Amino acid sequence: MLKKLKKKKKSNLLTITLTSSLILSGITFDIASAQSPDSSTVQQNQTSIVQTTPSFLTDAASIESVIQAMSLEEKAKFVVGVGMPGFGGTPPFEVTGAVGGTFGIPRLGIPELRLADGPAGLRIRPTRPGQTQTYYATAFPIATALASTWDPATAEAVGQAQGNEVKEYGVDLLLAPALNIHRNPLNGRNFEYYSEDPLIAGKMAAAMVNGVQSNGVGATIKHFAANNQETNRNSIDTIVSERALREIYLKGFEIAVKESHPWSVMSSYNKLNGTYTSQNADLLTTILRKDWGYTGFVMTDWFGGDNPVEQMKAGNDMIMPGMSYQSELIKAAVEGGNMDESVLDRNIKNILQIVIQTPEFKKYQNTDKPDLTAHAQTARNAAAEGMVLLKNDKMPLPISKDQKIAIFGNTQIETVKGGTGSGDVNAAYTTSIVDGLKTGGYQINQRLLQEYKTYIDTLRSQDQYKIKQSPWGEDFGKLIPAIPEKPLADSEIASSSKESDIGIIVIGRISGEGADRKVVKGDYLLSDAEQEMISKVSAEYHKQGKKVAVILNIGGPIEVASWRDKVDSILLAWQPGQEAGYAVADVISGKVNPSGKLATTFPVKYSDVASANSFPGTPVGNPKQVVYNEDIYVGYRYNTTFNVKPAYEFGYGLSYTSFDINHLNINEGKKFKDKLKVSAMVENTGNLSGREVVQVYVSAPDGKLEKPAVELKAFGKTKDLKPHQRELLQFELNAKDLASYDEGENAWVLEKGTYTVKVGASSEDIKESATFTVDHDMVVEKVNEALAPKVEFERLTK
Ligand code: BGC
Repeated sequence: MLKKLKKKKKSNLLTITLTSSLILSGITFDIASAQSPDSSTVQQNQTSIVQTTPSFLTDAASIESVIQAMSLEEKAKFVVGVGMPGFGGTPPFEVTGAVGGTFGIPRLGIPELRLADGPAGLRIRPTRPGQTQTYYATAFPIATALASTWDPATAEAVGQAQGNEVKEYGVDLLLAPALNIHRNPLNGRNFEYYSEDPLIAGKMAAAMVNGVQSNGVGATIKHFAANNQETNRNSIDTIVSERALREIYLKGFEIAVKESHPWSVMSSYNKLNGTYTSQNADLLTTILRKDWGYTGFVMTDWFGGDNPVEQMKAGNDMIMPGMSYQSELIKAAVEGGNMDESVLDRNIKNILQIVIQTPEFKKYQNTDKPDLTAHAQTARNAAAEGMVLLKNDKMPLPISKDQKIAIFGNTQIETVKGGTGSGDVNAAYTTSIVDGLKTGGYQINQRLLQEYKTYIDTLRSQDQYKIKQSPWGEDFGKLIPAIPEKPLADSEIASSSKESDIGIIVIGRISGEGADRKVVKGDYLLSDAEQEMISKVSAEYHKQGKKVAVILNIGGPIEVASWRDKVDSILLAWQPGQEAGYAVADVISGKVNPSGKLATTFPVKYSDVASANSFPGTPVGNPKQVVYNEDIYVGYRYNTTFNVKPAYEFGYGLSYTSFDINHLNINEGKKFKDKLKVSAMVENTGNLSGREVVQVYVSAPDGKLEKPAVELKAFGKTKDLKPHQRELLQFELNAKDLASYDEGENAWVLEKGTYTVKVGASSEDIKESATFTVDHDMVVEKVNEALAPKVEFERLTK
């Protein structure tokens, strides 16, 4: 049912008094104790220090005096980046391929910082003119694959390795992780994002940030917020309720901010309820700093927003990549009395507090030699850990090494490591699926393989299919035009089926920054050639009494319902990074027992997606506005509440062994006080070792606020359990974890009634449940009113 969301009575126009009382720093400044290079003769008198000792950035205590010593022009330059190579800027970057840098003021001891993308690995240029040394970075599995591990420890290990490359290649801040919500499967950049669920997204991002920052370099969580499509991303106005924002679109950021203290936050390109996010004080000051206590700095996305002065006022501390006219406008605004200089001082302080933590400031001598071999192993482990076994009827997988394999599909050779655009990584290599299997010891049908090689080589030599440089410049990887799936002759299939024990079909997709995917054949839908390949290979192999497995080398859901019954196994390998083939072989061989679970729903048909009608906005064709009518019912919250059966549900994933989840136990004598302790036992009931994920969902009672049928509230993964081994997993939930957002009260509230805790192996496969009650309505946390939509719109209700 769609209900009208009325405009809120109270004005959402927040006036922010930009006084120093708003400056959250957590650091008290004591000018008298400021250390400067020649402060060995520190004077006791504060005034004499300011007058006699040159201000120099040395530590937190020196920041205030450094700001005082900056001229207005320096201030206006410092809050604007130094430009981007290839986009009008020629900043003096030593790290070729870094996309941004900050303005240095040597006389005050302020160094230039270097910023480079993320999130699947550090994106820098691998070669430099006149040098033989290379600067390849490791391409890790895409974020969606990492989320499918349901294992923050894996994400943290990847973060540690990425952060080491950031540090050793001389970069200060990684522009990652990205944690927008998979609102709709067609978002071209979903591969960079974790999940449709904010708890998974937040926990994974926090783990990644902690890993990156353990190296003494910074992470940047992006794109803040509600940036869930590429269509018209620089101008689209996202209209969304305060509740959906707080519970879905901001929640992951809140978790990441609180659990990992990222050095920086990148505001997004879009408008949010009428205002560019980078110019949105409600978002960047009221919510981020006042409600959540954030103490790092905020930067714009590249060329985002349209008013540098409004960006400064809103709390967007730094403008990236930066153009000189922006500094000029900022300076003029202060001179003309349109902006108080204290606004600039506040923003500069936020940035300098991070500057003093950077390798550049600490004069770290980077080696340019990160341990790429060790990181490749981390990438391989993570990739295998994130693969999801969607189907395995009668266990064709794992495949023993003595079996002969015939492989179909172009992507067995042209395996996709990740998506395109700023989320690409210039890796030294990508191991193809067929090479990974060969190296893993499998005998591959050579005749078929040769036919594929010849086909691909022939097409790639034609102009339209030649691999080109990305239109965005050589730092953005390669543009690989998709070639049509190789047509298969019946005789080719028949002979391979006689010569082989099992058939494997690889289906691949790539998407990226700048465009959304489409519900067309060859993209969201299978092409006719792909359908035919699946039908014909399956029919022929089954006729011979042989099995067929499909490997999906994709970055986000595709249509599966029309073909999945024809094949015996489906392994969702995602876009697994540079170690793709090796990781696939690890899972295919059973060296790694798959334990990945979907963190994003695979619908039966696209129209089953809650946002199918509103994505990517109106007017159709060239949208200006996108209204999130589905409100809080995103992904599985929609499927479970409105009984829309997905093809593969959120949380789903098989194993080569089997598990029982039982002995659910909750404390609190069935009445909630302030903490709910939940425990459940996992037992490996099969014949192979493996890991299982326990998912804790809660069904909350409808009260003044209606609730989704289930919401994920906690999750945990067992260690590798041997057959019959058991492990007790324990969870603790507090009132905030269980609360919903009440727009009328501007508060997180826990409504009275009976709550059901459900532990299971997916959002639909609930193993046990238990209830507890909440006696009376509780206001768990009051927050500031912010971001109320200014227009009326329909929102989905039960
Ligand atoms: C992307 C950001 C990226 C930046 C710098 C933008 O187009 O949206 O995610 O960090 O470019 O490459």
